[in-house]
Amino acid sequence: MSLNDSWMRRDLAVLWHPCTQMKDHEQLPLIPIRRGEGVWLEDFDGKRYLDAVSSWWVNVFGHANPRINQRIKDQLDQLEHVMLAGFSHQPVVELSERLVALTPPGLERVFYTDNGSTGIEVALKMSFHYWRNSGRLRKQRFVTLTNSYHGETVAAMSVGDVALFTDTYKPLLLDTLKVPSPDCYLRPEGMSWEDHSRNMFAHMEQTLAEHHEEVAAVIVEPLIQGAGGMRMYHPIYLKLLREACDRYEVHLIHDEIAVGFGRTGTMFACEQAGISPDFLCLSKALTGGYLPMAAVLTTDRLYQAFYDDYSTLRAFLHSHTYTGNPLACAAALATLDIFAEDNVIEANKALAARMASATAHLAEHPHVAEVRQTGMALAIEMVQDKASKTAYPWQERRGLQVYQHALERGALLRPLGSVVYFLPPYTITPEQIDFLAEVASEGIDIATRAAVSVALQPGAPSNFHDPG
Ligand SMILES: Cc1ncc(COP(=O)(O)O)c(C=O)c1O
Repeated sequence: MSLNDSWMRRDLAVLWHPCTQMKDHEQLPLIPIRRGEGVWLEDFDGKRYLDAVSSWWVNVFGHANPRINQRIKDQLDQLEHVMLAGFSHQPVVELSERLVALTPPGLERVFYTDNGSTGIEVALKMSFHYWRNSGRLRKQRFVTLTNSYHGETVAAMSVGDVALFTDTYKPLLLDTLKVPSPDCYLRPEGMSWEDHSRNMFAHMEQTLAEHHEEVAAVIVEPLIQGAGGMRMYHPIYLKLLREACDRYEVHLIHDEIAVGFGRTGTMFACEQAGISPDFLCLSKALTGGYLPMAAVLTTDRLYQAFYDDYSTLRAFLHSHTYTGNPLACAAALATLDIFAEDNVIEANKALAARMASATAHLAEHPHVAEVRQTGMALAIEMVQDKASKTAYPWQERRGLQVYQHALERGALLRPLGSVVYFLPPYTITPEQIDFLAEVASEGIDIATRAAVSVALQPGAPSNFHDPG
């Protein structure tokens, strides 16, 4: 038995994996990873995989990055953890100062949690609580976009709209207001991204006009709806949304958990709209993909609404045990150093251009409806019928065939339904991008050539799922 097989058997005897139908592993091998280096992951049998999705969108500077490793090692010898209530430490102060300086103006306070979903919970709770502390008791609801994803905890699922993840739990979810997404894949033929996103804002305007007195906040994934299939839209929508939120006295929550730290071509997506949200949620690449941590930045105005004598009971009494963990802060500080020292945002422009040129031919593929890109995120949408953009039935799991082909060829491409995408570490080389494009092209050929027969189940979710 190979070492891979041996670890796989031991794993499958005791583990329950995330976002997985475990029965799939009766056919689909699980891949035990022994080590990582740069863009590569290596399994126990010595096979290497190019991590084209940055291990669920977190790893921006490669695995086992020597600069991040060293910073964590140094921190480990000083302080591994201390509770953050009543206590503080150097890396959390330094990181907070740097985040406040780096993010758009007005975001002056940082609250930490230990993953993206709980960061979202904090932003939602703080918004609700702010209005309560301000005597606006009716403001209790949240507005969200269709096809959005904000995480897996119950409130985060409530503001999400990817049916496969949320439908089962509907009875548990908050009652939110859903507004059609500005997703430009769905724009009328010949219309620009900007015009489509601007036009789609009319729905948001109408919802806010009707409901603003009961709305606490609008939450969006700026520019890219990630788990919803890497659907993209124009920054004009964010600009219009900021203006409307001000007009209607509604908070604006930017969930930049997936897109923050350079993914869209600017350090933060909101920069492209020239706006500051009331809450900015960051996670994933914050620690370079090393350790779980989220940061929720907000304004001094928000903060002051909680600042009072204890007896008024206005404080935000929310805590997670590992809030502000020093090792995670050290990883984040090292990550920010690399951004500053290596001029990463500028250097990424050439890589993004290479991603575009290496995949341009796929736009002509008979089963590709669109190749779209925002900065260092590129997505290829496979469809059954190109002219009408008719999607493949989700049960056919076409993306899974791309996934399997890529693994054989030494790449980790994990499509979202029928959307194949690249979200690589920024340390990828132009040649490695070409390799990914080649593997994706082959995989798409294989996946779209085959006639797949499946028993279609009525009433099944029509939305994306992960993987294929
Ligand atoms: C936009 C967005 N928000 C929130 C989350 C949830 O983050 P986590 O998985 O760390 O809870 C994700 C995760 O993919 C995400 O993409």
